[in-house]
Amino acid sequence: MAVRLASHMNMMMSSTSSTSVVSQSRKRLAFGVDILPPFSITKSTLASPNKLLVSSTLRFQYTMETENLTKSLGSPCPHPRKQSVDEIFKSMESWATDNILPMLKPAKECWQPQDFLPDPCSDGFHDQLRQLQARSKEVPDDCLVVLVGNMITEEALPSYHARLNATDIFHDHTGVDTTPWAVWTRGWSAEENRHGDLLNKYLYLSGRLDMKQVETTIQYLIAAGVDIGTSNNPYLLTIYTSFQERATAISHRNTAKLAMQCGDMKLAQICGIIASDEKRHESAYSKIAEKLFEMDPNGMLVAFAYMMRRKIGMPAHLMYDGKDENLFKHFSEVASRIGVYTAGEYRGVLEHLVGRWNVEKLGGLSSEGREAQDYICKLPNKIAKLEEMRARTPKIKTAPTTVSFSWIFDK
Ligand SMILES: [Fe+2]
Ligand SMILES: [Fe+2]
Repeated sequence: MAVRLASHMNMMMSSTSSTSVVSQSRKRLAFGVDILPPFSITKSTLASPNKLLVSSTLRFQYTMETENLTKSLGSPCPHPRKQSVDEIFKSMESWATDNILPMLKPAKECWQPQDFLPDPCSDGFHDQLRQLQARSKEVPDDCLVVLVGNMITEEALPSYHARLNATDIFHDHTGVDTTPWAVWTRGWSAEENRHGDLLNKYLYLSGRLDMKQVETTIQYLIAAGVDIGTSNNPYLLTIYTSFQERATAISHRNTAKLAMQCGDMKLAQICGIIASDEKRHESAYSKIAEKLFEMDPNGMLVAFAYMMRRKIGMPAHLMYDGKDENLFKHFSEVASRIGVYTAGEYRGVLEHLVGRWNVEKLGGLSSEGREAQDYICKLPNKIAKLEEMRARTPKIKTAPTTVSFSWIFDK
């Protein structure tokens, strides 16, 4: 049975009584989605990294429309003067030690994947496994697809660690640097490592996945890398990570709600506990960014505007399973349709950060800073208007699109 893109909502409605998540996702469905980067990366792109092929999908049309709201980027983000950035971060070191590092949890106080999994050393292992498999049978295919996509995203952690490490300031020259920034990078990675580990083991034990296809996708993704547009600029990195950690928390939290609706409370607990880690990480990154806004408001505004013009791309956008050239697009469409992550959520994260960093009230700015401030403050409304316009646009009725995923045996 194929995963039917157009019929999913009906399936969700019939498999659950009445839920706010379902009604919200129905509403959001009309908006279309834009969590994709402006280019779709295809198999041939991976073979020839210099060649970017543009996808001719509705999603791309939407992206082109949003592009009209923005200026052409043309040039890279004006990099703040390295010397002044070094000085700013140096002056923040004792503050970061006192305020950011305590936001990492000591390993002995952290949850570990085994806390949520059947214990293979216990007599009850086989019973626990049977119960796990019975519960996961109730999870609809498209919810499973989103769980797998989320898990694969988490499993590409080596790429994200490499991005942090490639950034001025957060880098770790010796591998055991003692700056609070390097300590944070290693501690953050160590916490994140549990996310993919837990989801991978749980989904493996569910017995519902073609694990070789899942593992192949992870290998392709790590080999392909990640293009988040932050280069070595720590301002861009703090903005990207603040946005992305919040977006990831939303995605896991919404998946937890769906798992709860299906009656898999353990899976809901797993997604929920991962979401709470992501929220804590978001708090840390947005706190660093808040401090940078205090110290260099112009530099941070320009960096924020740059990232929003470029758009915050999801970290796993280069995913490929050896079969589907548009795998990330298809995964994202399912995630949007079932209300896990939508265009409305993207705008919501932006609005949150604008408020969190008091962007509207920043004063004493340079002309560049004011221009960036103006762009950022107007952007949420522009995105909302675009969503409304799309919702009002009559849709051509077409037959339901069927997309299959190798992760679930081409269903
Ligand atoms: Fe994570
Ligand atoms: Fe995260």
